[in-house]
Amino acid sequence: MPTKYVIAGGQRLAGNVPISGSKNAALPMMAAALLARGTTILRNVPDLSDVHLMAEILETLGCRVTLFPQPGVVVMDVVDESNVAAPYELVSEMRASFCVLGPLLARRGEAHVSQPGGCTLGERPVDLHVKGIAAIGCEVKFERGNVIARGRAHGGHIYLGGPMGPSVTGTANVMCAAVLGKGVTIIDQAACEPEIANLADMLNAMGARVSGGGTGRVVVEGVDALHPVSFEVIPDRIECGTFVAAAAITRGDVTIERCNPDVMAAVLDKLDEMRIGWERRDATTLRVWCDKRPRAADLTTLPYPGFPTDLQSPFMSLLCTAEGYALVEEKIYPDRFMHVPEYRRLGAEIRKQFSTAIITGVERLQGAPVAATDLRAGSGLVLMGLTAQGETQVLKIEHIDRGYENFHGKLSALGSVIKRVDYFPARRRTDARAAA
Ligand code: EPU
Repeated sequence: MPTKYVIAGGQRLAGNVPISGSKNAALPMMAAALLARGTTILRNVPDLSDVHLMAEILETLGCRVTLFPQPGVVVMDVVDESNVAAPYELVSEMRASFCVLGPLLARRGEAHVSQPGGCTLGERPVDLHVKGIAAIGCEVKFERGNVIARGRAHGGHIYLGGPMGPSVTGTANVMCAAVLGKGVTIIDQAACEPEIANLADMLNAMGARVSGGGTGRVVVEGVDALHPVSFEVIPDRIECGTFVAAAAITRGDVTIERCNPDVMAAVLDKLDEMRIGWERRDATTLRVWCDKRPRAADLTTLPYPGFPTDLQSPFMSLLCTAEGYALVEEKIYPDRFMHVPEYRRLGAEIRKQFSTAIITGVERLQGAPVAATDLRAGSGLVLMGLTAQGETQVLKIEHIDRGYENFHGKLSALGSVIKRVDYFPARRRTDARAAA
């Protein structure tokens, strides 16, 4: 049965909220468990539907996965390394499953992974993954909807920059493909995201020789074998940024715990521009407060350390109630504006042209039923519901479950009035009436 959020707007968020582990670090790190036979343990993994899906994919690849025997812990035991094909039915559900390509190829010498299609964020090709894997000496071809890669890495020099910047999961795939093999691989214009640094640290703990993880040049020296490890996933900077925006949009005062303020520079700089208060309490704690209407500020999404595309929609929500005009420019996914019509349903004033939106802040949003079009659009809609007048219902929250652990529980603990409610979709209700 589908589930929706029902939110009574108007509560000011206050209190403390703990941040979960990073989804976008955990997914490629789970895939990296395939690089060594035996039991790899990850800690601080968020309990999300995407993590459950990655576990199912790993199971089909001969890895026994135990999810959350203790909070945050995922145990992965690679027992059978004969299968090299990830099933289309599962892979098509989640793009991050393409991250099994590099580890499978490196360890089993062959990988068949279905070619991801487009999604609500736009076209999202995989040409950079393919180019990188070919450049280290492996054969890659497309066959009946699958990417098929074979061979052993022998090193090479790769430029991984694309028209929209470097690819995050592309960098992860090439790094993983190159760790087991001969020779030295140099990846220039590698993605600098902290999630890549986390993966590189895990690979090194497994016995790999990776330097420069999290910088624009990653160097991988191939080794003969890796061993399983127990390793910790970094805090989710996107969840952290979402709670920053939630504190500000409700004019609240929230202390965000178990986060890493060091990787939030672009977001904190934006808070200064918008006259939103913040302080770094200690190495893992950030306090954010807002006692008057924030000032509008322009925003451009960029690869890390720039402002993250995954926070574009939550911050657009905030800008919808700020004072003045703001220009939001999307430089990673030019089509990542599917949420705009839904935001307008809540009374937002947004004009959009190509990859740019102009937002005119309004004093008050009005609650209404809306639907999440993707994960981050979903959290943005919830934030708007928290401040809108009256009731907001957010449908299609399965998108939100992909990337925010216990979102409504954390928001409730901060004082918001938000419920998760099962509902009958309209068509079924009609059927039920007809049957009666
Ligand atoms: N691109 C190419 N060719 C490629 C790969 C990417 O042109 O071969 C383009 C994309 O179309 C896009 C840009 O490069 O315009 C960046 O895409 P990237 O490959 O970096 O994205 P990704 O690795 O598929 C990860 C996150 C996304 C996040 C992006 C950008 C994971 C599992 N996903 O995706 O997270 O938006 O990086 O930071 O790490 C989310 O969590 O909501 C989410 C979508």
